Amino acid sequence: MNKDKRILSGMRPTGRLHLGNLHGALKNWIQLQDQYDCYFFVADWHALTTDYADPAAIRQNTWDMILDWFAAGLDPQKAVVFIQSRVKEHAELYLLLGMITPLAWLERNPTYKEQQQQLETKDLSTYGFLGYPVLQAADIIIYRAHGVPVGKDQLPHVELTREIARRFNFIYHREVFPIPDALLTEAPVLPGTDGRKMSKSYGNCIYMTEPEESVRRKILQMVTDPQRARRSDPGDPEKCPVFEYHKLYSTAEEIADVVQGCRTAGIGCVDCKKILLPHLLGHLGPMREKRAALEKDMEEVKAAVQSGIERAGREARQTMALVVETVGLGNHA
Ligand code: TRP
Ligand code: SF4
Repeated sequence: MNKDKRILSGMRPTGRLHLGNLHGALKNWIQLQDQYDCYFFVADWHALTTDYADPAAIRQNTWDMILDWFAAGLDPQKAVVFIQSRVKEHAELYLLLGMITPLAWLERNPTYKEQQQQLETKDLSTYGFLGYPVLQAADIIIYRAHGVPVGKDQLPHVELTREIARRFNFIYHREVFPIPDALLTEAPVLPGTDGRKMSKSYGNCIYMTEPEESVRRKILQMVTDPQRARRSDPGDPEKCPVFEYHKLYSTAEEIADVVQGCRTAGIGCVDCKKILLPHLLGHLGPMREKRAALEKDMEEVKAAVQSGIERAGREARQTMALVVETVGLGNHA
């Protein structure tokens, strides 16, 4: 137990979460909430940097994602759960950090050019998109967080946050911000139904709260080791995306049987998938039910997030009072 250590992380509102999100980030957050002083938020302004033309979807996706967080066990009694755009102080700090952040740091950010090329259907030659990591730095240091649990793709952003925090402390001669550490989330990369990385843009996802029938259909249609074209061909579980699911959900004994049966063509892929299915469905069932119950009680969900917003706001305002005093713009007569 180390409630003195503050942990903060955010997710862009992508809507309902898939199993990749669940095992990648969310399970980790749920573990952290028992040990640390945790702040978790929906990065809706960050979503706006790429989806500025479609804000209605962001709003819907925000609540869809929060419902999945709570359905999976993220507990607003344990962690401070809030929405970025409802704590305006993030924007104030973002503005001040913008004054001291060299343009060259942003232009050399690897995700900047990469995403601009990848998302070529959107015009991302905007000021807001270039400033994405400055906003992220503000999110983190406004709570004076010590640890930021993130996946590998976010490491450059946390590194930039550290540089910006150091530069602020240096320029204004005061250790206002602790230098946060990235806590790299070591999670299994769960393949999608086509064997590629699970991703909404590939259309290969299994969703956390998807109906049973639909999960069953997707698993039965999921690609397997391409060498097993016929039932009589032996396969290699290590080349099969279904096996990654067994590793997560099935018992050690079943996993051993699957390995043996697959390599000797002793079992077929449908048999193999039918070993997995009850475990997977058993894991998803309670989350789907919890979500359905929460949806009937949106007032309570919104109240929990509202109190998270208030707690986060108090904390952010304390930091901003110190920041404004440090920069020296406060106390005008
Ligand atoms: N950029 C992060 C992502 O795309 C989301 C994010 C915004 C974030 N602000 C943050 C993550 C602060 C950690 C800390 O996933
Ligand atoms: Fe994959 Fe199972 Fe088929 Fe082997 S038997 S290829 S592990 S689905």
